[in-house]
Amino acid sequence: MDLSRIMQILNVAEVAAIAAADWNGKGDKVAADAAATEAMRNAFNEIDFSGRIVIGEGERDEAPMLYVGEEVGRGGAETDIAVDPLEGTNLCAYNRPNALTTIAVAPKGALLFAPDTYMDKIASGPACRGKVHIDSSPEANVKAVATALGKPVSDVNVCILLRDRHAELIEAVRATGARIRLIDDGDVFGAIATAVPGTGIDLYLGSGGAPEGVLAAAGLKAIGGVFMGKLAFELDPKGAEKRARAEKTAGLDLDAPLTMDMLVRSDEAVFIACGVTDGEMVDGVRVAEGSVVTSSIVMNSADKTVRFVKTVRRSEGGAVRFS
Ligand code: FBP
Repeated sequence: MDLSRIMQILNVAEVAAIAAADWNGKGDKVAADAAATEAMRNAFNEIDFSGRIVIGEGERDEAPMLYVGEEVGRGGAETDIAVDPLEGTNLCAYNRPNALTTIAVAPKGALLFAPDTYMDKIASGPACRGKVHIDSSPEANVKAVATALGKPVSDVNVCILLRDRHAELIEAVRATGARIRLIDDGDVFGAIATAVPGTGIDLYLGSGGAPEGVLAAAGLKAIGGVFMGKLAFELDPKGAEKRARAEKTAGLDLDAPLTMDMLVRSDEAVFIACGVTDGEMVDGVRVAEGSVVTSSIVMNSADKTVRFVKTVRRSEGGAVRFS
């Protein structure tokens, strides 16, 4: 994908983050999500491409905008799009770290139409490629990460979503002696952070949304990390119904481990996240001195670049600071 197109998609993530950030700390996650979704859709529709939403806000009958299958753009190169316009709606509503707008784009047919259900996930950085597995025990995975990173198990930091369903997992990881970083929400960040030195996260374990799994896989593929998932319909109150539908449409073994290459079938995927609230990976939206500043990460599989992009939108007379 050429750089000008990547810049256009980055702009989409930025305007969505600015719209969501108006709701930072206002306690209304629905309004925050709606603002991000509308801004994102409007911005996609300004681009000269034929975008197809593969991962979006839900099925057509439940999401008015950016629903799965919706076509966006003014026409042009056929492109698959996965979005979570506001990843961590509660993080934004309560002004907690790491609320992001997230987008993955890839050539048509490359992104898996993952059912909107749960997924068991494992993610880690480049050093752990081929050494961890979704079917291995937490103990085995923690030990493998320690060996790959050349540090004692007691220094391995495992990120897990704080959920009742993870009680056993948390116990098993604690028993190894590893550290745990519990997060309230936002497992796209949790997974990708494993491959971003400085976040202090070495391994991500646990279940979360399957759509978020595709987004995380796109990011980790671009940054050279590891991601594996397994659909977990059993965690979903509507799992049986969703499984029956997926059996007809998904065209994949619903019980098999899903590798990064199955979730993202291209070496030309781009993953972009823009900060809504402050976090370890990117800053949140800042409004000061007549300018709005956004911070994003842009990961491009094709040329193996990772860009940290700070954008200043000035009003007339608005200030631009160097730091
Ligand atoms: P939202 O942005 O839709 O609020 O999702 C946040 C999130 O924490 C995801 O990062 C994660 O994949 C999913 O929710 C986990 O789902 P659940 O809250 O049902 O455990």
